[in-house]
Formats: sequence, C-alpha cells, structure tokens
Amino acid sequence: MGYQGNFRVWRGDADGGGLEDFTVEVNEGEVVLDVIHRLQATQAGDLAVRWNCKAGKCGSCSAEINGRPRLLCMTRMSTFTEGETITITPMRTFPIIRDLVTDVSFNYTKAREIPSFKPPKGLAPGEYRMQQVDVERSQEFRKCIECFLCQDTCHVIRDHEENKEAFAGPRFLMRVAELEMHPLDEGGRVDAAQEQHGLGLCNITKCCSEVCPEHIKITDNALIPMKERVADRKYDPIVWLGNKIFRR
Ligand code: SF4
Ligand code: F3S
Ligand code: FES
Repeated sequence: MGYQGNFRVWRGDADGGGLEDFTVEVNEGEVVLDVIHRLQATQAGDLAVRWNCKAGKCGSCSAEINGRPRLLCMTRMSTFTEGETITITPMRTFPIIRDLVTDVSFNYTKAREIPSFKPPKGLAPGEYRMQQVDVERSQEFRKCIECFLCQDTCHVIRDHEENKEAFAGPRFLMRVAELEMHPLDEGGRVDAAQEQHGLGLCNITKCCSEVCPEHIKITDNALIPMKERVADRKYDPIVWLGNKIFRR
C-alpha cells in the first residue's frame, strides 16, 4: 500500500540554498531514487540529481540521507518508518553544482596523481605471471564503483578543506595499496603513499569502510597494510642506513 511520505530536500547552487519540504507518494518496494524521480515528475521539474544505472553499479547517485553518505538507488524506503521525515542532501565534501549534484573532480585530480602500473622491464603484456592469491587480493579493491562516498565521509577532508591538497582520500590510498601489493609492480609506492598521497593523515577511523556500498574493507585490507609497509621501511635498519648514506 502506498503512503504520503515526508521529505526534506536541499535545493540551491554554489551561491547558497536550503532545505525544502515536500510530501511525495511512496509505493511498496521503492528506493529513495524512485521518490526523487517522482518529486521531479510531479512537483520540482528542475530538481538536479545525478544517476545512471539504478542498480548500485555506476556510482553516480551518491548523496546523504539523514546525514549519512549513501547511494540513492540502493536505499530502500522500507528502512524508514512512514511518519519519518527523510532528509536528502548533497555530498558535503565536494563543491555544490546544483541541488543534489556536486562537483567530484577533486577525485579525478587525485586519480591522476597516482602513477600507473609499472611492470618489470622486458615483460610484455601477456607474459605477466602471478599467484592466484595475489590476483584475489586486488580483486576486492577492483569492486570499487567510484561512488566517492568513502571520500565524502572521511573527516580528514570532510571537515578540513585545507587537507585536500595533501590527502588522496581512502579510495585513492586504496589504489596505491593495490599497486603496492601487486607482485609485478615496480612503482615503489611506499614512500609516495606517505609523502605525496597523505597516508599519515588517516587515523584509521574506518568511516570509509562503513559507508562503502561494495563492502570493501578499505581500512583493514588496504590502508592498515600500507601503513605497516611504511612503518617497516622507516624502522628497518638497512633502509634507515641507506637513507642516511644516499640522501645526504
Ligand atoms: Fe565507493 Fe567503496 Fe569505491 Fe569508496 S571504495 S569509491 S565507497 S565503492
Ligand atoms: Fe579516513 Fe578511512 Fe582513514 S575514513 S581517516 S581514510 S580509515
Ligand atoms: Fe548507479 Fe545509483 S544510479 S549507483
């Protein structure tokens, strides 16, 4: 049975805006994106929302529902009670374009700062050989749909605009870890993770892993192992001596 649901949606642009109240029909089996589409169709034709697949796979419909970073298409209306007011706001960490749409180009900038896979010299594609266990390790990270909800939630940049320059964010630190764990990569990622991508700013709050719609264990399987590699390098006496001799 359908009902009339209460919604509060952020409307505005880069110059400012605010929450507007709407009453919208909700039907059985619907997700929040269905309601947003109905709102567009019936009351707010110019409401801006980004979406594409409606199947949790394109990573476009990221927003915040009751303050929590979520995919609009994967949040079932049945998780709320009928009388509840549901507040939908754009991702807070990125600049507003309009309504629920933000400018996520920060993430593409960070992606470009990571040098690509560097195979050993003399090996051509097709000649790479690696253990299945190594393939599986990076498989988890490859599930990423680039929704940037982890980037949105991480307090290092969510509350500190000034950290954006120095911090790649969980999604891209995970990419660095993926390459570092690749047995054939010769990119030498450990020092760069700390010095260029800001790994040291992560204090393991794990909020990124909590909001990931793909349930990737970003902190446990990528960030912490990467921090361990940084620590190993720093306190390894041979590396320490090498740094002393060659960096003078
Ligand atoms: Fe989204 Fe998870 Fe990828 Fe982060 S790691 S961008 S939360 S899918
Ligand atoms: Fe941020 Fe995740 Fe680290 S939320 S602080 S990157 S564990
Ligand atoms: Fe593609 Fe939601 S519309 S993930």
